[in-house]
Amino acid sequence: MKTAEVYGVRYAVFDDPGMGTLLVSHHGWPVLESLVPSAWYEGGRFYRQGERLGQSTGTVYHYGVAGPGGRPIEMVVKVSRFAQEVPLYAGASFVQHIPPQVMASMRFNNPYEEFGRVERLRNSRRGPRVHTKPPLAIYSPPEHHPLWQLGRDGVAASMERGAVEQWQDADHVHIDLDPHRAYFELFGWVKGLDVSTAGMRGLMTAAEMAQITHDVASDLKSHGMVVLDHKPAHIIVRRCDKTGGWLKDHSGRLAYVLVDYELLVDLHEFSYGA
Ligand SMILES: Nc1ncnc2c1ncn2[C@@H]1O[C@H](COP(=O)(O)OP(=O)(O)OP(=O)(O)O)[C@@H](O)[C@H]1O
Ligand SMILES: [Mg+2]
Repeated sequence: MKTAEVYGVRYAVFDDPGMGTLLVSHHGWPVLESLVPSAWYEGGRFYRQGERLGQSTGTVYHYGVAGPGGRPIEMVVKVSRFAQEVPLYAGASFVQHIPPQVMASMRFNNPYEEFGRVERLRNSRRGPRVHTKPPLAIYSPPEHHPLWQLGRDGVAASMERGAVEQWQDADHVHIDLDPHRAYFELFGWVKGLDVSTAGMRGLMTAAEMAQITHDVASDLKSHGMVVLDHKPAHIIVRRCDKTGGWLKDHSGRLAYVLVDYELLVDLHEFSYGA
């Protein structure tokens, strides 16, 4: 078994000139057979049979595949936007006290960096536990495309590639971030409703929406992290079957899952160079 370690995350590596490159994290390992490209990618299965998630500026699909023992499992596939221009976000009004140098260097995380930051957030014990979608795998098909077709800036893409070189462990298989290849991120689906939709359906008041959005930002801050486009649509909450109210955690707070990490920043990385 070939393994790689990039941005502190260990992966099983499947690399084949015909199939491309599949990196599977320890979260993905139990459902490996659902992550191989023949299960979801080939023939465009994820977009033909899946549902494109609304409200997004990127390319994100929710789809189901047969899992181990034929049990259906649901996943999210998201196309990485690294080295693309970041569009303007209305949700930035929820961002609190972000240092100007962090805001000014806003860029989409490369896929390995994104998984690394998500993993650090999941494992951090500095503050209230922040639940995320489990990061399962990163898949890059073998085809090469011109940069304009992928919407990438050449200089930015080369810098990302260089950063990936720095962040890997020399004892394992070498992992490249090829500016000319597409990268798909696979996550586990979480059931629930995003806070923006909950508001639009009249299930949450504007004050409740503002409160949870503020609370999630402050939880992230306690772990030294921020999401630069933090907004209600990125927070998933769930109804409790028994009471019909929102599901709470043991401390009585609204239980939530954070879902978008392409602009998740670890503030500790900024203070290192200071
Ligand atoms: N696991 C999930 N469960 C429920 N809803 C989800 C899940 N993942 C994503 N969504 C919904 O789909 C929306 C789009 O997903 P996501 O935010 O990852 O896409 P995006 O292209 O980055 O969007 P944006 O332009 O808002 O940054 C989310 O805002 C959320 O409302
Ligand atoms: Mg996003």
